[in-house]
Amino acid sequence: MELIIVKNYEEASDLAFEHMIEVVKSNPKANLGLATGSTPIGLYDRMVKDHQTNGTSYKEIKTFNLDEYFGLDPQHEQSYYRFMYEHLFKDIDINLDNTHVPSGVGDIQENCNQYNALLKENPIDIQLLGIGGNGHIGFNEPGTAFDSVTHYIELKQRTREDNARLFFNGHLEEVPTHAITMGISNIMAAKKVLLIACGENKADAIVKMVEEEPSVDCPASALKNHPNCVCIVDEAAASKLSK
Ligand code: PGA
Repeated sequence: MELIIVKNYEEASDLAFEHMIEVVKSNPKANLGLATGSTPIGLYDRMVKDHQTNGTSYKEIKTFNLDEYFGLDPQHEQSYYRFMYEHLFKDIDINLDNTHVPSGVGDIQENCNQYNALLKENPIDIQLLGIGGNGHIGFNEPGTAFDSVTHYIELKQRTREDNARLFFNGHLEEVPTHAITMGISNIMAAKKVLLIACGENKADAIVKMVEEEPSVDCPASALKNHPNCVCIVDEAAASKLSK
């Protein structure tokens, strides 16, 4: 795992953009594993700006998102499909048929099976990740097995509270209690992993990920066993590291 400490969110987004664009430029048919949440917004802004000013094309790129809330239709204003559409897809030249977000509605087990099959057919070149305050990646909450594949999961209280604060106008009761998420082994199968962590709320999770032995108590610690994982961490998120 390569750990890069940068000053702040802007620098983290700049550097993440460099990693992402390198993959897109070197392979115009790349499969991108994408993430939602507050963290990747700066990166997506840079991808949109670059597309508009430099013409970087996504016409043949395919995308695969990590997760989706259970029970939210893709058009729901808080769905992760909608997030991706608003922050990235609508402003680049990607073919929407090539964008994939797990479905949180309908037969959830069938959706999991279909997503696993899709991931098997489409190996991911770069998987973008945020990290939860409790160390989750995707919606793989603490306790999730490292060999897990796409599955249905109950969200931890902290995850729901963090997401209520950031996205549901503070209305905890509106945050779904369950989700569908790529499993840890799906994430580990990506050729490259790019994790971004910013802010003090992530500092405890970063210590566990970096300084402790891999354990299901901190799902992100699985990444220590990934052969090509870059973690971009700002000073606030790195503030509790011992060295
Ligand atoms: P955040 O979420 O980017 O909104 O902090 C990250 C995550 O929960 O994976």
